[in-house]
Amino acid sequence: MSQFAEDVLKGLSASPKYLSSRYFYDDEGSRLFQAIMDLPEYYLTRAEMRVFEMQGDSICDVIADGHDSIDIVELGAGDGSKTAVLIDRLLRLGIGITYSPIDISQGANDELATRFAARFPTLDIKPHTGDYFRVLEGLRSGSGRRKVILFLGSNIGNFGSSQALAFFRELRAAMEPSDMLLIGFDLQKDPRKIVAAYDDSAGVTARFNLNLLRRINRELGGDFDLAKFSHYAQYRPIECAARSFLISRERQTVEIAALGRKFEFDAWEAVFMEISQKYTRAMIADLASESGFKLGPEFLDEEDLFLDSVWLPN
Ligand code: AVI
Repeated sequence: MSQFAEDVLKGLSASPKYLSSRYFYDDEGSRLFQAIMDLPEYYLTRAEMRVFEMQGDSICDVIADGHDSIDIVELGAGDGSKTAVLIDRLLRLGIGITYSPIDISQGANDELATRFAARFPTLDIKPHTGDYFRVLEGLRSGSGRRKVILFLGSNIGNFGSSQALAFFRELRAAMEPSDMLLIGFDLQKDPRKIVAAYDDSAGVTARFNLNLLRRINRELGGDFDLAKFSHYAQYRPIECAARSFLISRERQTVEIAALGRKFEFDAWEAVFMEISQKYTRAMIADLASESGFKLGPEFLDEEDLFLDSVWLPN
């Protein structure tokens, strides 16, 4: 049984039911996520872009730190538009770069590699398609050059707190003393602004979540009727956590052929789909020290919506 099938079986057999948001990103899911990033309500991408545009020179100084060549490894690269801002500046400074974007969508990765190769002819690009948890091992056998690991776009927000801690500890173990991490955190803010970002008026986020049911239908022979589920997003300000759910509109049975199983859904039963954790500065500092890092410089946009934090091995 594939990992996807195993995880769907586990999630739909659990109480409460859940599905993992790491499976959102088939080619259609990646396309929908691109559309989300352009939504007026989804402030995250633009805020981080402003951080890079306004403070790119200082960020590049920290990244290069006197080295004339570096390896940039990007976890969950997506369309790489923010990274392009940094790479452009670093190349102009004459710094040699090997860029390894890691993404779970083959389509997104191929597209990124083609675009970057055309825009930056001197850039050495080594894309990897796969789950970035599996890439950690490969990082250990590096080139001996300074590794700069980028984990942008609040991708860390899609990890639960214990998963985030375990992830950073593993990352720490794979890093040399001169390496660094640059992490994008979405900050705590007006709860209404956060809810709107995950419940947009055009319904793109709803389609993004429902697309996972379509993926199960296609890849695992499921018979989900997408019209019988609706998207629901909430934000809990005490936990700083946005969560999304798919709600079964009626009592129904769904069969998934590849699992040889039927699953019962009650009317209004919720399936937990995704966490998008927001952070305070204190939470960021705790997470860094608990996973073996010390905080380096931090860079914010002008509205304090988003923070890019430099972490150095402790
Ligand atoms: C990829 N990740 C940071 C997005 C987020 O904001 O949690 C995924 C997303 N889910 C709904 N909208 C965007």
